[in-house]
Amino acid sequence: MTAVRPDIAPKQAPEATQFPTGFVWGAATAAYQVEGAAAEDGRTPSIWDTFSHTPGKVHNGDTGDIAADHYHRFRDDVALMKQLGLKAYRFSISWSRVQPTGRGPAVERGLDFYRKLVDELLEADIAPVATLYHWDLPQELEDAGGWPQRVTTDRFADYAAIMAGALGDRVATWTTFNEPWCSAFLGYGSGVHAPGRTEPAAALRAAHHLNLAHGRAIEVLRDQLPAGAQTSVTLNLHQVRPLTASAADADAARRIDAVGNRIFTGPMLRGEYPEDLLADTAHLVDWSKLVQDGDLAAISRPVDVLGVNYYTPTLVSLPEKGESGSGNDVHGASEFSPWPGSEHVAFHLAEGKERTAMNWSIDPDGLYNLLMDVTRDHPGLPLMVTENGAAFDDYVSPEGRVEDPERIAYLHGHLDAVQRAVADGADVRGYFLWSLMDNFEWAYGYSKRFGTVYVDYGSQRRIPKASAHWYSDVIRRHALPPAGLS
Ligand code: FCB
Repeated sequence: MTAVRPDIAPKQAPEATQFPTGFVWGAATAAYQVEGAAAEDGRTPSIWDTFSHTPGKVHNGDTGDIAADHYHRFRDDVALMKQLGLKAYRFSISWSRVQPTGRGPAVERGLDFYRKLVDELLEADIAPVATLYHWDLPQELEDAGGWPQRVTTDRFADYAAIMAGALGDRVATWTTFNEPWCSAFLGYGSGVHAPGRTEPAAALRAAHHLNLAHGRAIEVLRDQLPAGAQTSVTLNLHQVRPLTASAADADAARRIDAVGNRIFTGPMLRGEYPEDLLADTAHLVDWSKLVQDGDLAAISRPVDVLGVNYYTPTLVSLPEKGESGSGNDVHGASEFSPWPGSEHVAFHLAEGKERTAMNWSIDPDGLYNLLMDVTRDHPGLPLMVTENGAAFDDYVSPEGRVEDPERIAYLHGHLDAVQRAVADGADVRGYFLWSLMDNFEWAYGYSKRFGTVYVDYGSQRRIPKASAHWYSDVIRRHALPPAGLS
C-alpha cells in the first residue's frame, strides 16, 4: 500500500454537524391549496370555495377548483417525493370531501382518496402526517354560524372520529388544526381569509371554539388511535418584537403576544387563558360565559408534540395618540384589524433585511428565538417545525430549469437556526418545508410560489427547483452542506 503524500492528501472538510438521530425531513401542503377536484366524488363547497368564487376576494379571481390537481396526480407526486428522498409528507384532509355537509355519515369515495394517498406514501416509505383542518370549513357549517358557534366543536369531534376510524391504523402522526389564529382572526376579524367576516367579538369566540374543538378532537384521537400514535396541533406563533425599548412598545408586544400566541398556548398548554388577554378584550366578549365549565380541562389535554410554523418576525409599536398604525398583518391588508382589543398597535418591516416575494423580511434568528422561547416557557415539550419556506418570483429558464438560489439561502439559514436551537436544548423532532410544490396561496391566488417543486399550471408539469435538489442533499447527509454548496 502506498502512503498518501501529505502535500497532496485531500484536505479534510470540517465535520458537518448532524441533525439528531430520527430527525424527520418532510414537506407540507394543504388540501384546498393543492387538490383541485373541487366538485368531484361528492365533495361540496367549503368556505374557501365560496370565498375564492366571490369577486374581489382573491388576487386575479383565482380559485382552488383545479389547483395543482394533486387529487388526480398524487401517485406521481408521491413518486417525486420518494425521488427527492423525503421521509414524511404533511397534508391536510378536506372536511367537505369526506363529510360534505359537515354532518352525518362519511362519503366513502372521499375517504378512499386519503386511503389511497396514505397507502401510496407508506409504500414509498414516507410517513404520512395528517392535519384535520387547514382552514376549509364545510360551507353548510358556516351557514349555521361557523366557528363563533359552540356547536361547531361537536361537528369537529364527529369528523375527527370518522378520520381516526378511516386512517388510524395507517397514520401515526395527527394534527388537529393548522394555525387556528388565521382561522379565527383572518377569517372573522380582518376578513382577508374565508369566510371573510369582520366581527372582532366573533373572532374571539371563534378562537375559543377552535381551542375547544382541538381539545375534543385530541380526546377522540387518543381514544381511537393505537397507543404509539402522536397527536399535535400546529400554531403560527408570532415572534413578536417591540420596535423600540419604550414602555409603550413593550406593551404593544405584550398585547400581540397575548392575542396572537398565548390565546392558544395558554389554554392548550397551561389550562388557562392569560389574565392580560381577558382584560384587553373584556369589552368585546364576556369570557365567563364563553368559557364553560370543563372547557379548559378539555382544551389542555396533552399533545405529544407541538407544531410551529415560522416565516418572519412581527415588529410592533404603540403609536402616540393621533398617529396611525401601519398595516396590520403579513397575510393581506384590510381596513379591519385581526387583533381584537389591540387594534391600535402598529406593524413594521425591519430595515436592512432582505425580503421574500411576500415582502416578508428574512430573519432566521426569529426561528431560533421562537424555538428557544417555547422551550423556556414549556420545558420538555417536543417540537416540530411544521412549516417554513419562502416565496420568490421563480421562472423556468429556456433550458427548462428553475434556479432559486434565494430559496436555498433562506432554507440554509433557517435549518442552521434549527440546529442552533437543538444545540441549545430545544427538542426539535423534524422539519417540514413549505411547500412541496407551488400552490394556491390563499388571498394571493397563484401569484406567489412557495414550492420547492415548480408547477406549470397550464400543463400541470412539475419541475423540481434547484432548492429541491439542495434539500435532497441535506436529507441524504442528515446535515447541512458547507455554505455555498448548492
Ligand atoms: C401559512 C399557511 C400555509 C401557507 C403559508 C405560506 O400561514 O399555513 O397554508 O399559506 O402560510
